[in-house]
Amino acid sequence: MTGRKLRVGVIGAGAWAAFAHIPGWKRDPRCEVVTVCDVIPDRGEEAAARFEIKEAARDWQAVVSRADLDIIDVVTPSSTHHELALAALAAGKHVLCEKPVAYDFRDTWSAAALAKRNGLLTKLGFTFRYTPGVQYAKSLIEEGFVGEPFFFNGYEQNSQWLDPNTPLRQVDHTADQSMLQTSSLEGYGAPIIDIGMWWTGAQYARCVGTMRNFIPERVVRATGRMMRMNIDDGDIHLVEYTNGALGSIQTSFVTVGNYPGVEARIYGSKGAIICRAVEEFGVAETIKVATPDAVEFKQIEIPARFYPAGGTPRESWRSLFYANLIRDFIDEITAGGGRNQGNFEDGARVQEVINAVERSHHERRWVDLPLPR
Ligand SMILES: NC(=O)c1ccc[n+]([C@@H]2O[C@H](COP(=O)([O-])OP(=O)(O)OC[C@H]3O[C@@H](n4cnc5c(N)ncnc54)[C@H](O)[C@@H]3O)[C@@H](O)[C@H]2O)c1
Repeated sequence: MTGRKLRVGVIGAGAWAAFAHIPGWKRDPRCEVVTVCDVIPDRGEEAAARFEIKEAARDWQAVVSRADLDIIDVVTPSSTHHELALAALAAGKHVLCEKPVAYDFRDTWSAAALAKRNGLLTKLGFTFRYTPGVQYAKSLIEEGFVGEPFFFNGYEQNSQWLDPNTPLRQVDHTADQSMLQTSSLEGYGAPIIDIGMWWTGAQYARCVGTMRNFIPERVVRATGRMMRMNIDDGDIHLVEYTNGALGSIQTSFVTVGNYPGVEARIYGSKGAIICRAVEEFGVAETIKVATPDAVEFKQIEIPARFYPAGGTPRESWRSLFYANLIRDFIDEITAGGGRNQGNFEDGARVQEVINAVERSHHERRWVDLPLPR
């Protein structure tokens, strides 16, 4: 890989591609975005012009089968991820895919297996695994700062859809509205479930959870009108991890507070860490620590090595965190494939948790993991 830039094809030129993905690729001199593809032609062309990308495309199948691309970046609506990611892996490309790869954890496992068989690296859009503070906290945990982990508490919550007039996307408005449809747990739960397993160094042994629809009617982007949407706009679950640690995770997009609204806390035998990735008064995140002999949590500075080139705590979280994710994926690919964190296997484990919490909610009981295959 040395001496040659990695060539990237981005599929999907919507909001998140423009906020996070394309700026992340553009920031790393080891790669170049060769083409940006969208089924809505204007969108692909506008993104190509705005980000100085040579080509715009409409047909994703033609893009994934191009021999001159190394990486396919899937940043389309969630229901399309599985088909596009599988096609890109089958065509021999490394794949960055937005979460979820698939709604059923078994489909995510089979995509992970295909990547392994083809010797390809994968990365999921677990944005908050890559914040400078969350990365720094992980390094402190690895150095033994926390000791034996006792508790993990995680939140992803903000007021993105508290106002029912804000058009909702990523939901199936044709679904049977007598059944609660998973929404926040899927969209907001995935990254914080991932951090919980990563920080505690354990998986789920069992969980119990509940989901709630707080706002019954809202405007849906696909129809442009106010309609009954029986979606989980808030949920909470308890977890017993395989190493004996306990956890709680709460997600919601109708809770007052700013973006992205991620808070992760770990308490152990030797210390505790609280990391808040909540953009407040111009600062993207803070990290605080305490120890048994200094129990007042104090804010600590995040070392420069955890920031992407040119990054500061005052940069927008959207570009700051994703630049780290993309930098890490390029590090992994150029290193030849030994390390591959936050990959489709991690995504499958997270999806299995989401499916277990759904089952717990619908059956009103604790659910053991792993789930039957
Ligand atoms: N990781 C995070 O923090 C984070 C944050 C925001 C969004 N997301 C995820 O990113 C994904 C995209 O979200 P968004 O807000 O940009 O949505 P969006 O609707 O603004 O953009 C998606 C784009 O994909 C295009 N598209 C759809 N099917 C396509 C296909 N087959 N080929 C080519 N283009 C196609 C659409 O025309 C649209 O322009 C979603 O899965 C969302 O959940 C993740």
